Amino acid sequence: KGEEHYMIEISESKLSIKGSTQKALFYGLKTLDQILLGDVCNTANKQIAPIRIDDEPRYGYRALMLDPARHFLPLEDVKFYIDQMAKYKYNILQLHLTDDQGWRVEIKKYPKLTEIGAKRIEGEGTEYGGFYTQEEIKDVVKYAADRFITVIPELELPGHEMAAIAAYPELSCKGEQGTPRIIWGVEDIVMCAGKEEPFKFLEDVIDEIAPMFPSEYFHIGGDECPKISWKECPLCQKRIQEEGLKGTKEHSAEERLQSYFVQRMEKYLAEKHGKKIIGWDEILEGGLSPTATIMWWHTWSPNAVPEATAQGNHAILSPNANFYFDYQQDKNSLPGVYNYNPMPESLSDAQKALILGIQANLWCEYIPSFERAQYMIMPRMMAMAELAWSDPSVKSWDGFKERMVKQFPRLN
Ligand code: ACM
Ligand code: ZN
Repeated sequence: KGEEHYMIEISESKLSIKGSTQKALFYGLKTLDQILLGDVCNTANKQIAPIRIDDEPRYGYRALMLDPARHFLPLEDVKFYIDQMAKYKYNILQLHLTDDQGWRVEIKKYPKLTEIGAKRIEGEGTEYGGFYTQEEIKDVVKYAADRFITVIPELELPGHEMAAIAAYPELSCKGEQGTPRIIWGVEDIVMCAGKEEPFKFLEDVIDEIAPMFPSEYFHIGGDECPKISWKECPLCQKRIQEEGLKGTKEHSAEERLQSYFVQRMEKYLAEKHGKKIIGWDEILEGGLSPTATIMWWHTWSPNAVPEATAQGNHAILSPNANFYFDYQQDKNSLPGVYNYNPMPESLSDAQKALILGIQANLWCEYIPSFERAQYMIMPRMMAMAELAWSDPSVKSWDGFKERMVKQFPRLN
């Protein structure tokens, strides 16, 4: 039995919770909580019926991602969110700390990241901003750890970096002055892969971020990096030449340059900080490092997980069609989460064993308030929790709906 396995026994005279770790006992208590609230079984007449529960999760990676880069979430809101996650036995929170539209973490060596990069001018001409100090980050990481949730930082590279480039223009190919992006969507200006400055900058930033997060993993982003500026940049082209990054049938030279960039940062994270990397599935393009974990989000590229796991890489599933909680809810969205099959029969048993788990993302472009965030997350996060935890043999859509509806008064 794993470190998350627990047992509950309730008889006429005795209630016991057993587990071999504190984490397991914590999950036992969370289930007891649900029993007492009447969420999992009938507590009519204020009596708890005798019950025996022998339980452990299907996946060790049960995750949600928050995006305070697009709309900032104050620390209290993140903590509230962590409490909700703990209630449903999630164990990973990914914080998307940097993006084109905002830089949200204090870096002492580069104060302009928050002086300039954490602020943008909204359509009405008003300034919008916010960031977490290092003390606040440590506080929230501990708050989560006390609830057996690991916080994983995401530092986007080499794209989605306009907020940093606005603060330090020399990081881009052309070094032009700019501002954090004031509209949604992906910025064409990215970190130069030919200069050495961006690598040094990212190493320094990692030196401050990594020690605040005791997680085994560090998320390097890696998604949606347009190659326009690299194609035109003499220094990027020189790097391509020097590194022998020839275009192939599968990958352009610039895609291979991105792979060079990611693998250099991976090596730094491993050697200096003992961290493994996770990257969005674009890290497959240009050649996947054998030690990286991919986070699959392109539902429309169904080969990413078969390809990565065939190469022996770990994968975390976050298909946008099902697990993007910022997408509108309709009659298909909830069953689309609950009934999702992360282990299609087309994968071999060895490949299935490389799937660490699942993650839902809440991208916050259109989520300006915590009320909106909660509205979008619920009840999908309950369906996700059950998909992540329960063996398919015990899942029941009708049973889920019945248990879900009982919780509506509390959610309201
Ligand atoms: C992503 O949605 N760009 C990972
Ligand atoms: Zn360049």
